[in-house]
Amino acid sequence: MNIQIENAIDLMAKQDCKLVSHYYTNPLVQDLAENSGGFVGDSLDMAIWSRKQSCQSILVAGVYFMAETIKILNPDKHVYIVDENATCSLDLSCGYDDFMLFCQNNPDRTVIAYINTSAKVKTLADWVVTSRKAVELIYYLECKGEKILWAPDKHMGSYLKQETKADILCWDGACIVHESLKAKGIANLIEKNPDAAVFVHPEAPLEVINLATLVGSTKDMIDQIQKIKNKQIIVATDRGIIYKLTKIAPEKEIIEAPSGGTGATCVACAHCPWMEMNTLDKIISQLNHKNSEILLDEEIIYKAQRPLEKMLNIDNLIYRY
Ligand code: 13P
Ligand code: SF4
Repeated sequence: MNIQIENAIDLMAKQDCKLVSHYYTNPLVQDLAENSGGFVGDSLDMAIWSRKQSCQSILVAGVYFMAETIKILNPDKHVYIVDENATCSLDLSCGYDDFMLFCQNNPDRTVIAYINTSAKVKTLADWVVTSRKAVELIYYLECKGEKILWAPDKHMGSYLKQETKADILCWDGACIVHESLKAKGIANLIEKNPDAAVFVHPEAPLEVINLATLVGSTKDMIDQIQKIKNKQIIVATDRGIIYKLTKIAPEKEIIEAPSGGTGATCVACAHCPWMEMNTLDKIISQLNHKNSEILLDEEIIYKAQRPLEKMLNIDNLIYRY
């Protein structure tokens, strides 16, 4: 085993620390998380898994809102992030003051914040959701006659409107990675590979989503690839997920969806620059220096916990309804 990896595993064991990673980080980081007793998952499962651990600290290989979410749900643990500059364009698009004003100007609407938001923004929400739970939540609220204020992803907002026909007012944010996916390039790929399934993350623009055979979160894609019969899968999300998809379904042919460039000339460049900041060197440095701890005011933790807990309880609630 690589000496750096051994060193990281040893440091984590001594410090009673677990590494939790998102599927978009590089393969080395994902393997380290799994081989050291940590976890790799989507933004929902990262939070759920962390809450079940009894360890003293958690090191997050992902982006800032993911580490904050884990801290909100684990206020008694020390939560560190591999690189504190790893942010997200959706989180950046939705500042607390502007969003508060938006909510105040629309007091008749139920506020749903996508999980890709800061801890402070979450305190303003009635609900926090991940993409895996968004459609069912909005159906549920729509049935109750509620009007929705959705933030920050405008593309996911359009998709949710199309799916549920709910009255949804959207914030104007986008993921820079998914926004660069090109419908024309994907349509060409479908023409060349007519038997391929098409997996699209709901952060993609609507014209891309409308080409999908599966619209789902990263975890939905992981679950579905083993179940579907298609041998070829066109994958329209951050290319980081391909490592895990290939690992669990090596018999499938994964085709990366084209992104960026005029006429989709950039094939498969879709990768989050902030996820890329999670390196083995920085993991070791963080374990040695512990200088990127997530610290949140008690009041923020308390107020952000409520809409997050509602999401974690959503299956119970919707089932009972
Ligand atoms: P998932 O919840 O599907 O993991 O998505 C998180 C994310 O940031 C996608 O860009
Ligand atoms: Fe944010 Fe997009 Fe990166 Fe996900 S891929 S963390 S939504 S910028």
